[in-house]
Amino acid sequence: MNKKDLLGLYDLSAEEIGEILGLGLSFKAALKRGEKQFSALEGKSVVILFYENSTRTRTSFELAAKYLGAQTVNISVATSSVQKGETLVDTGKTLDAMKNDFIVIRHPMGGAPKLLAETVKAHVINGGDGIHEHPTQALLDMLTLKEHYGDIKGLKVAILGDIRHSRVAKSNLYGLTKLGAEVRLFAPKTLMPEGLEREGAILCTSREEAVEGVDAVMGLRIQLERQKAGNFPSLGEYAKYYGVDEQILSHAKKGAIVLHPGPVNRGVELTSAVIDGAQSYIEDQVLSGLSVRMAVLSLLAGGSV
Ligand code: CP
Repeated sequence: MNKKDLLGLYDLSAEEIGEILGLGLSFKAALKRGEKQFSALEGKSVVILFYENSTRTRTSFELAAKYLGAQTVNISVATSSVQKGETLVDTGKTLDAMKNDFIVIRHPMGGAPKLLAETVKAHVINGGDGIHEHPTQALLDMLTLKEHYGDIKGLKVAILGDIRHSRVAKSNLYGLTKLGAEVRLFAPKTLMPEGLEREGAILCTSREEAVEGVDAVMGLRIQLERQKAGNFPSLGEYAKYYGVDEQILSHAKKGAIVLHPGPVNRGVELTSAVIDGAQSYIEDQVLSGLSVRMAVLSLLAGGSV
């Protein structure tokens, strides 16, 4: 992959996504064998700069970098000079001056990783920017699908929930359609942005229509911190009309898998029976996340395993 940064899947080709997934699968197999020591990032440093909360993305990037042999630093924005008014660009220049090699950034503003990437010499990886993109989440979803089904081409994937505020849904739409999957979206009208049909999405008018015969069903976290009040009447009604329960799942293909980016609001986006059921791949997604982040770091560094 001949790129300095990973900012989104909108800008990646099918070949580049395929390269990441191929290497990600190798790392996942190695991790399952208990291997954790690789050399692709030996002598490199990785700074993790998150302006929003995270468990999965932050931890898996840090572990991915460590397993690849890098030095890592976690910047706590709450105790950094950001609180004294330092701009993102100046923070980036400061990290560059320390000869840092990678910045993984999560930011509430869409476009912040691009701004940083245009400013710094370090490789920049988008760990989620506003409601724009979350490329490594979509890559891990695709890795989970590829490992389970062998090929993504021809798969049907339903994504249900708060599409408007979901960077995960957008990155998945861009990535999955590039690899030849069919992506069906269903959301409350207030939570469906305009124009996604032009990006290849099939917009559905009911949960049943979205889920009928699909290979995978993805629930999305309700982005309570991002949305204005009043987009749906109550959490109970959201769960009833837009959530995934066993009855709705029965419309999918037999053995279809259930995905969710986490953290899950139990009983809202998915019922506990679905989360803990045999069709749930939510835990498996976490190992896919570590694997795909190792692949992205390795490929941006210009190496492989
Ligand atoms: N899926 C995801 O981005 O989770 P975190 O917010 O825990 O990183």
